[in-house]
Amino acid sequence: MPNVTFSSPLHKDKTVYAVAGSHTKSLLTLAKENHIPIDFSCQDGECGTCLIKVTNLTLKGPMGGPLTEREIKVLKDLGKITQAEIERMQVEDVVPTSWRLACQMVLRDEDIVVEYPSR
Ligand code: FES
Repeated sequence: MPNVTFSSPLHKDKTVYAVAGSHTKSLLTLAKENHIPIDFSCQDGECGTCLIKVTNLTLKGPMGGPLTEREIKVLKDLGKITQAEIERMQVEDVVPTSWRLACQMVLRDEDIVVEYPSR
């Protein structure tokens, strides 16, 4: 299972080893379990409060897991993804952005760095 490094300008970086079964959890759940202070509100992919930036260290690029419909809508509303990127994602089956919602993103077996704003 992956190493997830949480990074914020206001806190020390913390690397968490995600144990087996973590692929059924959201990144926000993993963060909460490890006392990482990622901001959140609805926990349902609607408010955009849990916006994070993800770098995949395994693939050296954006995170490989697919965006959920809710992520697509919120990221579009926030100006973090364009219609052209959405269409490219549907054709090529790749995630075209590093921006994700922590409450929607599910872990895969890939090492990632998660940048989050901080309270
Ligand atoms: S907490 Fe509202 S979108 Fe994640």
